[in-house]
Amino acid sequence: MEARALIERKRNGGRIAPAEWRALMQAYAAGEVPDYQMAALAMAIYFVGLDREELVALTDAMLTSGASLDLTHLRAGRVDKHSTGGVGDKVSLVLAPLVAVCGVVVPMMSGRGLGHTGGTLDKLESIPGFRTALPLPQVIQQLEALGCALIGQTAEIAPADKRLYALRDATATVESIPLIAASIMSKKLAEGLTGLVLDVKRGSGAFLPELERGLALAETMIALGADHGCPVVALLTAMDRPLGRACGNAIEVEESINALRGEGPADLMQLTFALGAEMLVLGGATATRDEARRRMEVAISSGKAAERFQRIIEAQGGDPRVVDDPSRLPQAAECEWYVAPRDGVVAQVEPRAIGHGITALGGGRTKVSDVIDPSVGFVVTARPGDIVRAGEPLGTIFARDAAGVMSGRATLARAIVIADDADPPLPLISHRVTEAGATPWEHDS
Ligand code: URA
Repeated sequence: MEARALIERKRNGGRIAPAEWRALMQAYAAGEVPDYQMAALAMAIYFVGLDREELVALTDAMLTSGASLDLTHLRAGRVDKHSTGGVGDKVSLVLAPLVAVCGVVVPMMSGRGLGHTGGTLDKLESIPGFRTALPLPQVIQQLEALGCALIGQTAEIAPADKRLYALRDATATVESIPLIAASIMSKKLAEGLTGLVLDVKRGSGAFLPELERGLALAETMIALGADHGCPVVALLTAMDRPLGRACGNAIEVEESINALRGEGPADLMQLTFALGAEMLVLGGATATRDEARRRMEVAISSGKAAERFQRIIEAQGGDPRVVDDPSRLPQAAECEWYVAPRDGVVAQVEPRAIGHGITALGGGRTKVSDVIDPSVGFVVTARPGDIVRAGEPLGTIFARDAAGVMSGRATLARAIVIADDADPPLPLISHRVTEAGATPWEHDS
C-alpha cells in the first residue's frame, strides 16, 4: 500500500479512486498503515475536502472494514437517531425505549463524551452494572425480544473508523464535514438500518456552531444515506444552552427516567417527540408525525415506555430498580445551590462552560484512560430570558467534595450570564432537512 503517494495526491488537490480508498482503509484497519500517515491524510482532507464519489468510497471502505448487523429477518422498520453532540443531551435514553414501544426497532449505537460534550455510553454506565459492550449475537437477540439495544461501537463495527476517529481527535481534524459524515454514516450503515434521524446541533455549544455548516453536514449525510438506500431526515436544533436541566451522567439518567414517566422538562420532551415522530414515520409505524406523537404520548402515560427502559437495563446487566427508585444511581457527596449574584435577566447559559465544568468536577475525560465520576454535574434551572432576583437559586452543584463545590460555583458564574437585557435564544428546532432540501421548522409534533 503506497500511502505516501495518496497523501501527496490529496494534498495537491487530487482525488483518490474507490479501489484505492478500499485498499487503504483495509490496510489501516489491519495495522499496515501507520497512524502518522493517516493523520497526514486526514489533515489533507480537512483542507482539500472530498468530492461526492470519494465520500461514498471512503464511507464504504470504512463500513466494509468490519462486520454489519443483518436484521432483515425483523419485520419492523429499523431506525436509529444520531446527535452531533451537546450538553445535557439525554434524548437517546428517552427516545430509544419510547420508539421501540411504538413499534420501530432501535439498534442504537452511541459514543462516549468528547471534548465538552457528554456521551450516552457514559450516562448509561452510571446505572450500576449496565454493560454497553455486547457481542453482536446478543444485540440481535435483544432487538428481537425488546426492539432496542443501547450499545457502543464494538471492535467488529467499522474498525477503520474507530482507529481514525481516535486519531482525528488527537490531531485537530475532527471538524471536517466529509470526515464527520463518513465516520458517522459508516457506523450507522453497519447497523442494518432502514432509516436514520439526525439531530444536528447548532449554536455556541455545538461542534459546528454556524447554521450553514450544520446544514451542509446534514445534507452530506442525507446524500450518503440516499446512496446506500437508507433514507435520512435531519432536524437542526439549538445548542446555545443545555438541553433540559440536568448536565452530568447519573443526574441525566434520573432526568431521562422522569421524562419516560411524563415528567420531563418541556424542551427535552419537545425535541424527543419531534425526533421520535420522524423515526416512527421513517420506520413505517405511523403514517403521519401527528399520529406518531399521539402514540408516543400514550406509551408514556401508560407506563409502557418506562417499563421498556427497565427491561432494557435488566437485559444489559444493569440494576432495573433505578427506574422506580433513582436514588439507587450514584449520588454526589456534596450538593449545593448556586444563586443569582444580581437582579437581571438571564442572557446566557453557556453549554461549553458547563461541559468543561463537568470535566473539572471529574465527570468527563481529558484523556481516553480517565475514569469518570458518574455522580457529579449540575442541574441548571435558569433558562435564557428568565427574569431573576439576587439570591434566587439558578441551579445545583453536585460534587465529590468542598473543592468540587468551589470549582462548580466558578463554572456556573462563568456559564450563567445575567445582564440588563438579553437577545432571544435560538429556536429549539429551526430546520427540517430531507433529500428534497431544508425547510424552516413549523411542525411542533
Ligand atoms: N461522531 C462520530 O462518530 N464521528 C465524527 O467524526 C464526529 C462525531
